[in-house]
Amino acid sequence: MQREDIRAAGRGAGTGTVAPAVPALQRIRARRARTIRLALGRLPRACFRRGLELGAGDGWSAGLLGEWVQHLVCTDYYPAILDNRPTAGLEYRVLNAEAVGDAFPPGAFDLVFSAHLLEHIDDIDRALSGVRAVLADDGITIHVMPNPVWKLSQVCCYTPSLARAAFQEVLAHRSVPRLLQRIGRCGERRDSDAATEWHFTPTPEEFRPQGRRGFASRLLLPEIHGVSPTHLAELSAFAKASWLARFHRSGFEIVEVMPGIVSSGYSFGLDPIRRMLEALGFSSEYIYVAIKAGHASRFARYFGARTPAPHRPAQGRDSPHQA
Ligand SMILES: C[S@@+](CC[C@H](N)C(=O)[O-])C[C@H]1O[C@@H](n2cnc3c(N)ncnc32)[C@H](O)[C@@H]1O
Repeated sequence: MQREDIRAAGRGAGTGTVAPAVPALQRIRARRARTIRLALGRLPRACFRRGLELGAGDGWSAGLLGEWVQHLVCTDYYPAILDNRPTAGLEYRVLNAEAVGDAFPPGAFDLVFSAHLLEHIDDIDRALSGVRAVLADDGITIHVMPNPVWKLSQVCCYTPSLARAAFQEVLAHRSVPRLLQRIGRCGERRDSDAATEWHFTPTPEEFRPQGRRGFASRLLLPEIHGVSPTHLAELSAFAKASWLARFHRSGFEIVEVMPGIVSSGYSFGLDPIRRMLEALGFSSEYIYVAIKAGHASRFARYFGARTPAPHRPAQGRDSPHQA
């Protein structure tokens, strides 16, 4: 599916004004809905007075978050977010998450939420400090991010996903020239957008000049997902310890890290395997739930029950906000 089609299918989704979503998008949304339920499902309905979503993509998730948030500001770097129609209790804004601290008054939100955004941010310390600034002292912040399992699957399932796409091309068109053309352009940015479900909206990286990759590289390796310079660096950047250190550095205390769903990122549709892996405790994303260090949050009591070992960094080390 081409990105234009995906974007058209997603446009206005937050307000329910537009055409039904195509199947690939429906699958993505079903997974996002499961993730959001895992992240917020323990909280009472409408418990947040004001919430902020960062990196919301096409804004579709706003309709789900509305169950818990009375007034939601739904934002993304990409201006298509404004294609959604605001309603009472829901507004849309273009916002670079790095600058969130400059965009709202201090303590303006009792929930700051993002899903699959933070790994795309260059200056993560600035973004997290901004989140801390706009979060109310008794608020809570929740961020979903891919983990090393996702990274491994992104790399290992990439070539099989291209093979599947080529096979589908043969079945659909029975044309050798068309197949050769398809193989020739495999792994080009537009092609990998179609292959991986996680790029259904453009990210700022897509507007950066990219070095052209050789055919072998495009055949064997996907694009780097976030802002890390190499796949290996990204594997390490997605580790739990790495994110815990970043949250701590920016003045947060982690109350729980929950497993999210299992997803290869390529829409292979192997739902029974996914469910089995989830039942065994695997996940391809983590849900980080954090509060301001040195403050008590009235929402923290809904979390923490399953935290194996709270992150307790050494006293006085690299934490400007330690109370
Ligand atoms: C992988 S998509 C996730 C979209 C959505 N949150 C979801 O879970 O489906 C990443 C989103 O982050 C946005 N993004 C990336 N960098 C950003 C930044 N610095 N500020 C705001 N949004 C950003 C992109 O435009 C894109 O919509």
